Amino acid sequence: MNPVAESIKEQIKGVRTAFEEALASASQTEALEEARVRFTGKKGELTSLLRSLGKLSSEERPAVGQELNALRDEMEQKLEARKVQLRDAENERLEAEERIDVTLPPRGRPAGAFHPVFQTLHELVNIMQGLGYSVALGPEKEEEHYNFDCLNMPSWHPARDMQDTFYFPGEGQGGRSLLRTHTSPVQVRSMLKYGAPLRIVCPGKTYRRDNDPTHSPMFHQMEGLMIDKDVSFSVLKGTISEMTSAFFGRPLKNRFRASYFPFTEPSMELDIECVECSGRNPHCRVCKGTGWLEVGGMGMVHPAVIRAGGIDPDVYNGFAFGFGLDRMAMLKYGISDLRLFFDGNVSYFLSGRDA
Ligand code: DAH
Repeated sequence: MNPVAESIKEQIKGVRTAFEEALASASQTEALEEARVRFTGKKGELTSLLRSLGKLSSEERPAVGQELNALRDEMEQKLEARKVQLRDAENERLEAEERIDVTLPPRGRPAGAFHPVFQTLHELVNIMQGLGYSVALGPEKEEEHYNFDCLNMPSWHPARDMQDTFYFPGEGQGGRSLLRTHTSPVQVRSMLKYGAPLRIVCPGKTYRRDNDPTHSPMFHQMEGLMIDKDVSFSVLKGTISEMTSAFFGRPLKNRFRASYFPFTEPSMELDIECVECSGRNPHCRVCKGTGWLEVGGMGMVHPAVIRAGGIDPDVYNGFAFGFGLDRMAMLKYGISDLRLFFDGNVSYFLSGRDA
């Protein structure tokens, strides 16, 4: 064999060994790609050997050529096999990393959390308890009597139109049952039960025929009621400012607007300074550029309601307020669609938190 053929044979051996080593040490697809370029690429070691075939005599060329071609096929097969192996290993690693074993007991942070609306409810109740209020609860299946009549809304009262009510079927006019449209009936039930003086908050579920991004057929309210002698309007304003500032964690500007509710006189609605932009962003998506957010209704309890509660309105007076808990939760936690509160997909609420 002539020296050129000899040298090519030697080189083939060297390339084969180098290839085997490179293949074995390629533990990532990048390294594998480097090996492919290094050996079988256009300027690769094997390719240049193929080119050097021209230096051989026509007798020697076929045998060496065959050997080189066989080596190229072998290299390509091995590269492909290794690629599949690495991809499988990577998939397995990812699977193991991302696998959630639902049978494991919780570790560290407890599994699950209070619903944002219930966190809101608990926080507001805590704040009000700090101001000396107790919690009173009432039934969700309510009687027309407590939901409307006792609240100065007799059957002919136009204010009943403000509330689209779910009535229970099969019961006659007058004493119908319904899903309470607000927590205000708990005011009267509590006055009848506990008498005066009284300081209560009544959180709970309420129902109306409504369904859109800011209304759902079931929602939550918290009612407040203070009954005592000589309760003044300024105590109401102070109480409400205290509650909203404590809830949002900073003093907020309040705006009381004259309004109408049959069960209070005078009545007001409360707007708070926009928690998102404080009125500084004319394009704010939360306050729509108005700088204010409507959060609840309130007023001095109407004497007719105090009387319905079995208390003498000539001796006692008081104030009441009603806040939407879902709205308060949306504002505090920056949730834009009320319906997410009743969606089963927990990732909406977990996103952004540590695992
Ligand atoms: N019940 C009213 C509603 O659901 C809210 C409300 C307004 C409650 C004024 C009150 C009040 O106690 O004084 O729209």
